[in-house]
Amino acid sequence: MTQLPPKIPAEKIPVHVAVIMDGNGRWAKQRMQPRAFGHRAGVKSARKILRAAHKAGVRYLTVFAFSQENWKRPELEVTLLMKLFINTLMREAQALHKNGVRLRFIGDHGDFSPELREQMDQSVKLTRHNTGLQLQVAVGYGGQWDVVQAAKRAIAAGQEITAETIESHLDTAGVPAPDLLIRTGGEMRISNFLLWQLAYTELYFCDTLWPEFGDAEFAAALRWYSERDRRFGRVAEQV
Ligand code: IPE
Ligand code: IPE
Ligand code: MG
Repeated sequence: MTQLPPKIPAEKIPVHVAVIMDGNGRWAKQRMQPRAFGHRAGVKSARKILRAAHKAGVRYLTVFAFSQENWKRPELEVTLLMKLFINTLMREAQALHKNGVRLRFIGDHGDFSPELREQMDQSVKLTRHNTGLQLQVAVGYGGQWDVVQAAKRAIAAGQEITAETIESHLDTAGVPAPDLLIRTGGEMRISNFLLWQLAYTELYFCDTLWPEFGDAEFAAALRWYSERDRRFGRVAEQV
């Protein structure tokens, strides 16, 4: 009989997990399928991880679904990804709502179609009073953009530029910084994700391609996190 690993104590579970869901294209290529096939499989993985995070007691989950730089991909892929967002939102919004998930979107949505923005607004409104897991979907998001727009808003409000005023205007305002960042797909980079917010986040990189990232891989990331010693600049004896 295989022995189950010891349960992670509640205080060692990250409050906020952020995920760079990378590797859909390579996963599809390995199967000699178009990239779209990988993106559709990626949606399934996202659904699985949402459930796993909820079960583990994670309060906030932020997923990187489309970066500002992803606009530079071939038009066909961008169009397809947009369609996939709309369809996924239309299909999943009610289920998310029933499960008490509160949804929000971060990023610059100025270039999105009115149809997509309407879907996004509706699902945010539908779930805004929910107190379960808070799901932030980063679409059209760029970390540099977020800091710049926060600084602009602080200036427009006549505020002095401080870490606190910037923080209060970030798209993620009100949400604690991620405790754990997971990046799948083997690259060890941030790709302009949450630059400000990741200041003290534990960074977990794995080679698993996103469509293959499931419960066991998520559990491994949580276990790795539970063994980290978070010092925030202090010495071990102080924390
Ligand atoms: C991540 O998978 C999903 C998005 C960026 C939308 P990729 O599409 O980047 O997959 P790879 O990195 O090419 O394998
Ligand atoms: C990061 O993945 C963005 C998302 C997962 C949405 P990319 O595949 O776009 O990152 P790079 O281009 O390899 O840095
Ligand atoms: Mg990629």
